[in-house]
Amino acid sequence: MKPIAIIYGSSGGNTKGVADKLVKQLGDAQVNLFDVAKIKTTDLEAHANLILGTSTWGSGDLQDDWDSFLPKLQAQNLKDKTIALFGLGDSSSYSDTFVDGMGILYETIKDQGCNIVGFVGTEGYDYESSRAEEAGKFVGLALDQDNEYEKTDARIVSWVSAILPEFQ
Ligand SMILES: Cc1cc2nc3c(=O)[nH]c(=O)nc-3n(C[C@H](O)[C@H](O)[C@H](O)COP(=O)(O)O)c2cc1C
Repeated sequence: MKPIAIIYGSSGGNTKGVADKLVKQLGDAQVNLFDVAKIKTTDLEAHANLILGTSTWGSGDLQDDWDSFLPKLQAQNLKDKTIALFGLGDSSSYSDTFVDGMGILYETIKDQGCNIVGFVGTEGYDYESSRAEEAGKFVGLALDQDNEYEKTDARIVSWVSAILPEFQ
């Protein structure tokens, strides 16, 4: 398998913590970890397999560093890349905008010719609405470290086993 780049944006450390867990769970795969605040577009270009992770801030806003990088993501040639998304949010305090940031990343890449993998059923989550939902599924792995941290590890195990076979 070709190397996987995990690119995360994290304001308080939760998304970074999940990115670290993903590195462990991906086991033998070669994984390169990048903070989106510091990544160069050449690092992104160099990887055929991408995992993009963001938290949500404000009221349904993309995490700040991702927001700054968004024009560069839009300008990238993502054709022939396989991309999985994960998003962190708070389904209790921000039930109407749960993991919206992941939805914004999805909207940015969905028409760019890449293969987006790792959709997750919304069963087992408790929230009102999410921009990251399409046809009854989240467009990636939704996680809530504020209220459901005890579910995170099992959700990661299940998601990684689903996305690994999809990578190039
Ligand atoms: C001021 C503030 C606004 C937030 N807005 C949202 C939101 O709109 N939707 C959501 O799902 N989570 C929201 N959250 C929850 C964060 O996304 C969540 O705590 C996440 O784990 C933070 O990850 P990070 O530390 O990697 O940035 C908000 C949290 C704070 C403190």
